[in-house]
Amino acid sequence: MAYKNLLLEVEEGIALLKINRPKVLNALDRETLMELQGALKELAQRGDVRVLIITGEGQKAFVAGADVAEMSEMGPQEAYEFSRLGHETLKMVEEFPCPVIAAVNGYALGGGLELALACDLIFASEGARLGLPEVTLGIFPGFGGTQRLPRLIGKARAKEVIFTGEMIEARRAYEMGIVNRVCPPERLLEEAKEVARRMAKNGPVALKMAKKVVERGYDVPLQEGEELEISAWANLFSTHDQKEGMRAFLEKRKATFKGE
Ligand code: CAA
Repeated sequence: MAYKNLLLEVEEGIALLKINRPKVLNALDRETLMELQGALKELAQRGDVRVLIITGEGQKAFVAGADVAEMSEMGPQEAYEFSRLGHETLKMVEEFPCPVIAAVNGYALGGGLELALACDLIFASEGARLGLPEVTLGIFPGFGGTQRLPRLIGKARAKEVIFTGEMIEARRAYEMGIVNRVCPPERLLEEAKEVARRMAKNGPVALKMAKKVVERGYDVPLQEGEELEISAWANLFSTHDQKEGMRAFLEKRKATFKGE
């Protein structure tokens, strides 16, 4: 399907989704969020996608936030619906059935950083700047930033980011544990694709279940998380891929996974 504000391609199991509003630094308006939902549904339904990479079109920005022009005249009810739309969209990213890598190629601010935080891994280019500047606009992060960032880096450091609204250089974001790796700009997409290809070689059901168990287990007591792991792990033993993966190891050959 064609999208107005997104570019989408799938090559050898790796989907590349670009937010495509470079004139406004890829700001997320309602239309783009709706399109993002459509694209995520489309990709999740395809059988051939193993890893998704999300990035921004152009040289300057991943996503510079939710669209300030669209938000500026909103009242509380519209703001509530907009925040909910953002949350629902980012939840779809978080629950996407394959690993998702954010390739942060420039500004990742506000809703842009929140989008990256909903991805499984964040790769950033040297020179990228990340932050939650909402307080400078008289609001605070409304697409999950107040919840996902403290869970990722701890309350105190998250509060510093949220309360100052200041931008953080990619290297500092790496030191803080927000970013998985920092790459030269010209290498960013290639490094994301290389890692995606390495992930894509592994058993798809195992990847999907590993993601689910980490996500679900993160917010429940340890014992509940352990139970989730035991059940999901045991269920893998009813799949073709578990039999194939282990047989291939014993027969000293490369496994051919079917995703079932
Ligand atoms: N929404 C709408 N338009 C945006 C935008 C945004 N978030 N970010 C940038 N733009 C637009 C600018 O208005 C400008 O448009 P015009 O050319 O029509 O003037 C264009 O993109 C280029 O931006 P700048 O001229 O500002 O570029 P710059 O290089 O001087 O500055 C920047 C870059 C520092 C990223 C600056 O654009 C900026 O501060 N952007 C806003 C960042 C921000 O506050 N994000 C948070 C939004 S609130 C939010 O996300 C709420 C939430 O929690 C969901």
